[in-house]
Amino acid sequence: MSDYLYRIGAFLRFYKKATNVYGIHSPFVFDFVQNVLDESKEYYAYKSIEIERQKLLLNRKMIQVDDFGAGSKNSLTNATSRHINDIARTSLSSSKKGRILFQIAHHYKRMKILELGTSLGISSAYLASANSQSQLYTLEGSVEIAKIAESVHSHLKLKNIQYHIGRFSDTLPTLLNDTFDLVFLDGHHEYNAVLAYFEILRPSLSQDAIVIVDDIYWSKGMEKAWNELKQQDIVTASVDLFDMGILFLRSGLSKQDFCIVPYHLKPWKLGVWGK
Ligand SMILES: C[S@@+](CC[C@H](N)C(=O)[O-])C[C@H]1O[C@@H](n2cnc3c(N)ncnc32)[C@H](O)[C@@H]1O
Repeated sequence: MSDYLYRIGAFLRFYKKATNVYGIHSPFVFDFVQNVLDESKEYYAYKSIEIERQKLLLNRKMIQVDDFGAGSKNSLTNATSRHINDIARTSLSSSKKGRILFQIAHHYKRMKILELGTSLGISSAYLASANSQSQLYTLEGSVEIAKIAESVHSHLKLKNIQYHIGRFSDTLPTLLNDTFDLVFLDGHHEYNAVLAYFEILRPSLSQDAIVIVDDIYWSKGMEKAWNELKQQDIVTASVDLFDMGILFLRSGLSKQDFCIVPYHLKPWKLGVWGK
């Protein structure tokens, strides 16, 4: 079965399980929906970041790209030269996802953030804009891609981002003396890789860390990895939004697992009928 057909089937399975805000009985997850997913405040940063995305989408310059396979979401080619606008069109988080990243960093007051997969720097910009006092460490394998991300961040006057260029397997171990309270895994979308990165990171996660895993239904392997990550002993709450999964490490919560869709996508799913 092609990945495309796989994802259609995965969405139908997800949709069947999913609940809207009225099916959530956990105060912690209800707070997450209200203050992260449904927060509609328009922060100034959103507009500036989206202007940078538009510039990337119009930029037809060719750059050399190292292909890391499953790291590039919709790439159909193994080419080592790509137009910047092609990368911008296929590899970056949407503005909706960016806002969720920003809101997570903002609402939970995250100070040490780690991102695996900078690409052209759009998700990094959302993560770093939430608080100028926070520090974002972002990892990217392709040198030329990372240079563009740096220029995007410099246009946005973001000074709280550190770049680590090279394969994750080389750069990640150099950062493990730090403790992170927010991690965004958005590159190398493969079963073994995702589980291995989580395992390597475990000792460097703060007690109340949040780990966001992108593209959890990208492939059978990614879905399997997500299901295993949810079961990890240090994970207390997991929220599946289909496009990404969010793991909360937090003591004092009983184990809880939710699949959430916005109310307008499933308006008849009310609390009285349960999850
Ligand atoms: C999906 S893109 C990241 C998108 C970005 N987070 C955003 O939403 O704006 C994934 C990036 O990870 C990089 N990548 C994938 N696997 C990698 C690896 N093993 N080592 C280093 N970089 C890798 C790719 O070069 C690509 O730029």
